[in-house]
Amino acid sequence: MSFDEIIDRRGTHCVKWDMMEAIYGVPADDGLAMWVADMDFRPPQAARDAVQSMVDHGIFGYFGDDSAYKAAIRWWMAARHGWEVQDDWIFTTAGLVNGTALCLDAYTAPGDGVVLFTPVYHAFARVIRAADRRLVELEMGVEDGRHVLDFDAFDAQMTGDERMLVLCSPHNPGGRVWSRAELEGVADFCRRHDLILVSDEIHHDLVYPGHTHIPMAHIDGIADRLVMMTAATKTFNIAGAHVGNVIVPDPDLRARFAQRMAALGMSPNSFGLHVVTAVYSPAGAAWVDDLIGYLDSNRRLFDDAVNAIPGLRSMPLESTYLSWVDFSGTGMAREEFTRRVEKDARICVNHGPSFGKGGEDWLRFNIATPRARVEEAVARLAEAFSDLQ
Ligand SMILES: Cc1ncc(COP(=O)(O)O)c(C=O)c1O
Repeated sequence: MSFDEIIDRRGTHCVKWDMMEAIYGVPADDGLAMWVADMDFRPPQAARDAVQSMVDHGIFGYFGDDSAYKAAIRWWMAARHGWEVQDDWIFTTAGLVNGTALCLDAYTAPGDGVVLFTPVYHAFARVIRAADRRLVELEMGVEDGRHVLDFDAFDAQMTGDERMLVLCSPHNPGGRVWSRAELEGVADFCRRHDLILVSDEIHHDLVYPGHTHIPMAHIDGIADRLVMMTAATKTFNIAGAHVGNVIVPDPDLRARFAQRMAALGMSPNSFGLHVVTAVYSPAGAAWVDDLIGYLDSNRRLFDDAVNAIPGLRSMPLESTYLSWVDFSGTGMAREEFTRRVEKDARICVNHGPSFGKGGEDWLRFNIATPRARVEEAVARLAEAFSDLQ
């Protein structure tokens, strides 16, 4: 397959293209959807074959025997991440926002503080607030154009009622692949403040050459307070399958999680299980390798063009297809640079403030789209900010 193929997603109930006019006032006919974090590419053939064989059979009953599904997850984590997991550590949730919410439910109580390193994926704050937990935003620094963690500054903001940290590793937005030293710092921080650590590693497969993702499970001294979350959905562009892995090595944490899953009557959707089993495979791995090559070229094209516009600066992506662009150098108010991107360039993006403290001057662009669209987007941006040249 070619990632260059332009596939018309309009009229398919896809949020990214079908909701852009309602939300941004930008019609899909002429606008560019660079917001929601899914890709404009078809998943690997194995995913489509799995659904096709279900359709061909035509009976969509309850799923039984998840051993092949769990074996596929085990294989993927070992082959791609050098991480050995056991079947009974794996829980299947309706995605990782759901996984986060279940962790809040299992390990915290209303009123407890839940910590985020911001700016970070917006749905974390949404579920924390909705669950009546206290949102604790610890703002990251930016050094040499990249997010950094300042644990001394973080320590000073802790009050003692915090119970959990949700880490995004690799980080969305901005794409940091945290180093071993940084992850050890996170582990120390969690021990110091007696926090459960939920490590959302949904972007772990989408890492660019020159960077290596380290699973938090490989960091010493954290296993007894660690919940790992991974998924095939970002990697293979199957987000609508709403399926995620919450992997809990510690027996006590596992029992508490299992109890909440049972209490809430959670059981997985068979479509998700069939597709995940198919893509966590050598064929899926080959597809991801090709995808990374394509995204790598997109990010270079995007970065070169955006950074040539005076006042705009993109964070160098180490992972993810979600480019984080700083507009503070334009000297414009947020409303003005956002208006230019959305109304003049007709590009729908995610607004920085929705990612929490530190996002004020930034916009997030999804570059997982055919190259011709990225070229069009950067040409439109250059035009929209041409008075700065
Ligand atoms: C860090 C992170 N976690 C979770 C999600 C969404 O996960 P799900 O669709 O499995 O709920 C996203 C989507 O962008 C994400 O970036």
